[in-house]
This record gives sequence, C-alpha cells and structure tokens, in this order.
Amino acid sequence: MKKMLSVLLVLCCIFTMCFTTSCAAQGIEEENNTVIVLTIGNPVMTVNGSTAEIDPGRGTAPVIENDRTLIPVRSLIETMGGTVGWNEETQTAILTYGEDEIRLTLNIATAYFNDQAQTLDVAPVSINDRTMLPIRFISESFEFAVEWNGDAQTVTITKNAEKEDTTSQPAVDNPADTQENTQSQAIVVHFSATGNTKALAQTIAQAADADLWEIIPQEPYTTEDLNYNNDDCRANIEMKDETSRPAISETIENIETYDTIFLGYPIWWGTMPRIINTFLETYDLSGKTILPFCTSGGSGISASVSAIKSACPNADVKEGLRGTSSTTAEQAKEWMTENGYENNETNETSQISEERKIRLSWEDKEVIIAMENNKTADDFISKLPMTVVFEDYNNTEKIAYLDNELVKDEEAAGCQPEPGTFALYAPWGNLALFYQNWSYSDDLVPLGSIESGAEYVEFLEGTIYAEIY
Ligand SMILES: Cc1cc2nc3c(=O)[nH]c(=O)nc-3n(C[C@H](O)[C@H](O)[C@H](O)COP(=O)(O)O)c2cc1C
Repeated sequence: MKKMLSVLLVLCCIFTMCFTTSCAAQGIEEENNTVIVLTIGNPVMTVNGSTAEIDPGRGTAPVIENDRTLIPVRSLIETMGGTVGWNEETQTAILTYGEDEIRLTLNIATAYFNDQAQTLDVAPVSINDRTMLPIRFISESFEFAVEWNGDAQTVTITKNAEKEDTTSQPAVDNPADTQENTQSQAIVVHFSATGNTKALAQTIAQAADADLWEIIPQEPYTTEDLNYNNDDCRANIEMKDETSRPAISETIENIETYDTIFLGYPIWWGTMPRIINTFLETYDLSGKTILPFCTSGGSGISASVSAIKSACPNADVKEGLRGTSSTTAEQAKEWMTENGYENNETNETSQISEERKIRLSWEDKEVIIAMENNKTADDFISKLPMTVVFEDYNNTEKIAYLDNELVKDEEAAGCQPEPGTFALYAPWGNLALFYQNWSYSDDLVPLGSIESGAEYVEFLEGTIYAEIY
C-alpha cells in the first residue's frame, strides 16, 4: 500500500511539474485567462479552479502584515509564466515577467520595478525561513489585477487586460526634451535653473550622441528662490538642509536601457543642488557609469563628484567636467574620451575597421593590415583565407600573383606607394606590398596599409598564408 502511495505521489509530482513547465514554456500569451485565488492562512491556492500548493512541500500560507498580503511567490510567479531568482549576498529576490523585472530586498521597503525605485507599504520579510513578498505590488507591476475580499480573506489575481502595452513607450518621456534616438545607450540628465547648464548639456548630448533629459522641478524655481544673497531664499534653505529632496515632475521610463549617464547641474554652495540627490535616489544606478558635469561662478566640481559617489556607491563615477555654456563639442569630447566614453558613431567605425583587418603570417612573423573600403579590397577579403607566394620586385615591394583576378575598383584606383602600402597592380593582377616609397600609378588600387609588422616585409619571401584577422 505504502509503495502504491509512493508511486501515485511520484506520478502526481511529474504531472504537476509537466503542467507548470509547459505553462511557463508557453509564455505570457497563454496566461491571459489565469485566475489565481489565495486565502489568508491557507497554504493551497487555486489556479483556474485547480488547487496547487503556494509553497510546494513547505506548507507556507499567505499572511497579512501592515494590511498587505505577503506570500512566498515562486510558485505563483512561475504559474503566471514568469521567473524568480534569489541573490543570497544582497538578500534580493529578482522576479521577471515578460520584459519587466522587479527587485525586492529583505527588510527594505524600497523595491525596483525596471530599475525605478518604488516605496512599499511593507518590506519583504522572512517567516520560517521563507521570503514573504507583497503580492499586490508584484501583481499590479506585472499588470495583473488584484482584488481583496475581506469577508472571505481572499486575494484574487487575474490578468488585467485593460492596462496598456508599455513596451512601445519612448525611452525618454519628457515632452520638453524627448529625442528620436531611443537606441542610444547614454543619456544626458541635467538640472538647470538659469540655462547655463542646459546649454552645456546640449553640447554634451550632441558630442556623445546621447539622449537628453531635463530634470524639471515639480515646483519651478523663481528668481527670488534663487537669490542666494537672501539667507531665507528657497535654494539656500534647501542647501542648508541635507535631507531636503525637492520633487521632480517626471521620471525617466526606461533608465535600464542606459549604461552611461552624463549628469549635469549648477554648483550651489559648493556642491550639487539637492534635486540631484532626489534624482540619484529615485533610480537604482548600480553598475552604471556616471559622468558628472557642472557650471558655476568659479567653484570646482570635486565636492559634488564625491557626493555622487557616496549616493551611488555601486556606480562607476568618473571625473567631473566644470564647463560653461560656451564649452565646445571638442572640449566635451576630450573629457568624455579621457573618461572612457566613446559615442556610438565611434564604436561603429571601430567595429567596421576591426572586421576589415587581415593578417599575413609566416614562420613566427605576422603583419597586420587595415583594409580600405573599396570594391577591390572587398573582393580580396571575400577570397580569404588564401595562400600566396611572395617574391621581391624592384627592391621596393614584394609581389604575389593570385589564382583569380580581383575586381578593379576604377573609382579607388590611383596610389602613391609608401612603406606599408598594400595594393593591387591591376595590369598584372598581382598583390604588391611596399617597403620603399615608389612613384604614383593609376594602375595601383590601394587595398590597405600595414598597421604592424612593416619591418618584416623586406625579408618576406616564400609561401605566405593570409587570413582574416
Ligand atoms: C543658490 C545658488 C548658489 C550658488 N552657489 C555657487 C557656489 O557655491 N559657487 C559658484 O561658483 N557658483 C555658485 N552659484 C552660481 C551658479 O553655479 C552658476 O551661476 C551656474 O552657472 C548656474 O547654472 P544654471 O544656469 O544651469 O542654473 C550659485 C547659484 C545659486 C542660484
């Protein structure tokens, strides 16, 4: 009998596992009609009328804390079609559903929905070694509707079909400064009370090929607010109070899409305005690179850079730039390059040239050649790898004949060879690798130029194996 029960139990488990796995595998579309009912104190939930354990094998039941229902969510989220991860070190649960992600940390009332900080009514707690998470916050963030029935003490979770699809929202949702370039991985976030920093921000955004987003205070600063000669002006009052956090009118919707944040502000009383602290505390900027910049009447940026580092210990905060409204794009570029930033345009160019490098190798020697962008070079690259035999010609170049003729790019033809020039001599159809200067010829089509190993060319002879680098 005991044996039979065990077999039944195993079959039951396999069935449950298959059911759950196939639900998850089928994805979110299949979850549209899911209705889950949880009852306080009851370790069993119903999923579309069928019962299932909330915390399989552990008997954990939903509890109420501070008027909020907490449950161990793994089974529930997986039933919805999402995933649950756990970071032991930070005691953080990472829940995903479709494109969305929620991070909740034990005993901390700030959660992150797609990197945006949200304040919870009740922090996740550990009960009997299980992490209990606020189900309303999670369900609503993932666009499921939640209904509480006080009499029955039940929570009913259903797919909320009325919520709009947020996936098509622009990356930056600030009417004043929204740009078309939503692909960019850098954003220039700035606060400017009188326009100086805003002008610098625009220059930086252009130089970095980045999006632009202005921090607009919920309550705009009037001239009187900014009159720092008056001890009691709003700006001075805020700066005297380290805990002051002036509200920002809008939030950046997809901050997770940005790796790099250029952060600009005017210097107020030697540091950044408190509204910058509001910004830094609104988002989880862990892992992001921050490049601070400022304008000021003369004060430097270093105190504010230290303050940003303290506020964002897990971000990579770079050297700051103190500029003016007249700082040029070149000056801005120099600063960002020194701090490891290359704009997308530069990245693309370098990727292309990386792909267009070839290597000639023989014995222990290696010559790297950066190829030209012309049809003859394209044709040559398309024939690689190949083996060629070089011989000396005229004590100026090494030449090698090809099995198949290369296309002659008439537009690119014409070249004055110098040491390191790699070209096609069209009339004979041979490759020419120069180690001496030689006269201009219309019949030479430039293929590339040697980047490294030019010193070996003069002594190059015999069988050479050429391949794409
Ligand atoms: C309240 C307040 C405090 C300021 N404190 C300083 C300061 O400590 N050092 C400084 O060099 N400039 C200070 N300034 C001047 C601004 O930093 C400077 O005018 C800046 O360029 C203004 O930028 P914005 O036009 O983007 O607001 C202060 C300005 C204000 C309004």
